[in-house]
Amino acid sequence: MKVSTIVSALAFAGATVAAPNHKGKHLPTTKIANIEVVDTQLVRDAIAEVKKFIPLQPYLYNHVMRSWLFGAAAFNNNATLKASIDLEAHAIGTLMHDLGWDMRPNSPWVSKQHRFEVDGGAGALKFIQEHPTTKKCEWNELRLGWVYDAIALQAIADIPEFKSIQTQWMIKSVGFEFPGPRSPLIKNEDYDSILAEFPNDYLFRGTNATFTWMAATKPDAHYNTFIQDFGTAFVPGFNATGHRLFDVIQGGLAAEVAAHPSS
Ligand SMILES: *[C@@H]1O[C@H](CO)[C@@H](O)[C@H](O)[C@H]1NC(C)=O
Ligand SMILES: *[C@@H]1O[C@H](CO)[C@@H](O)[C@H](O)[C@H]1NC(C)=O
Ligand SMILES: *[C@@H]1O[C@H](CO)[C@@H](O)[C@H](O)[C@H]1NC(C)=O
Repeated sequence: MKVSTIVSALAFAGATVAAPNHKGKHLPTTKIANIEVVDTQLVRDAIAEVKKFIPLQPYLYNHVMRSWLFGAAAFNNNATLKASIDLEAHAIGTLMHDLGWDMRPNSPWVSKQHRFEVDGGAGALKFIQEHPTTKKCEWNELRLGWVYDAIALQAIADIPEFKSIQTQWMIKSVGFEFPGPRSPLIKNEDYDSILAEFPNDYLFRGTNATFTWMAATKPDAHYNTFIQDFGTAFVPGFNATGHRLFDVIQGGLAAEVAAHPSS
């Protein structure tokens, strides 16, 4: 075998071995709200899933689409950053970060026992793993972990800080939704085209209603989380006292002092 044949055979073998993740990989793209985004069947089907929120929670569909698109716009504005991001994982982690908000009575995502972030993380994993295009060697534990961590840790301010840049950027993309001045990481024209196609006019009223619904329908899953405060404020009969970790510690403390008074 000639050296050149060996080299090209190796190159071919290299090309067919799946990259451990999709960082910087050239995937098909399309434009949504004039923002260039990754366009795989997995991403298309994730969009189709969150579109199902529109009849009952139109604000939720717009929120997850904006979260994804704001992140994509920030990447398009910085080639160095973009090359370090797994764009498909980012799409799934942002589009599916609020599956746990699904108020449809027959929701395939919302469990009885888990807080909403865990329902979202578990739902996104299930969606990826059951998708017909998913190959185990491509969606390995690392990539699945980025998505799960971002969704599960989305509401906890500083724990994600030392996680992978992938997880951080999924959460950061959702963070562009918070009130405040426009970020310098995103071009003004991109903000304008995203907000024109996915208006932000009801998100906080929708959030207020959704978080109150979580406290009312799944109180046990949400004690010791910020959802507890919505229960205390708005749900008649909701009483967190006795369920908080604080109460557990105080109970242990009282028992310990009684058993070992002089230690
Ligand atoms: C682009 O992203 C890289 C990597 O995150 C960062 O170091 C750099 O400061 C960014 N450039 C600009 C102009 O924001
Ligand atoms: C927030 O939700 C609670 C419970 O549904 C409701 O009583 C309250 O009016 C809501 N606030 C606004 C400003 O919509
Ligand atoms: C909440 O529950 C605790 C513990 O059962 C009880 O002591 C307290 O009175 C309750 N508070 C209200 C407002 O019902």
